[in-house]
Amino acid sequence: MTFVIGADCVDVLDRACIEECPIDCIFIGNRMAYIQPDECIDCGACEPVCPVEAIHYEDDIPEGQEQFASENARFFADPLPGRAAALGQPGGATGVGPLGVDTPYVQAFQP
Ligand code: F3S
Ligand code: F3S
Repeated sequence: MTFVIGADCVDVLDRACIEECPIDCIFIGNRMAYIQPDECIDCGACEPVCPVEAIHYEDDIPEGQEQFASENARFFADPLPGRAAALGQPGGATGVGPLGVDTPYVQAFQP
């Protein structure tokens, strides 16, 4: 289990969560941010600082947003549109910087 970022981050991308993560595992896409599920230590520090309450424990993701748990994982596991290689587990988001891409689901997501 891990924390995941849901639909409310899309097109908001406030980034307050990034400052709170002690292991730097929140990565910036194009329309939203994504939590690296293999790096997240489930500390919960990011969850209360999001102004739009977009961060949820995976088991508590709101109804209708279940797909976002998969999208957080897919962002790292799959090649993405405009990005040939999967990101994998880079061991920190700061060195990677904003990626400017999203999963196809998030790319097409209509809030
Ligand atoms: Fe998104 Fe909230 Fe973080 S809007 S970037 S999850 S602070
Ligand atoms: Fe990071 Fe803890 Fe959230 S490890 S992604 S601040 S749950």
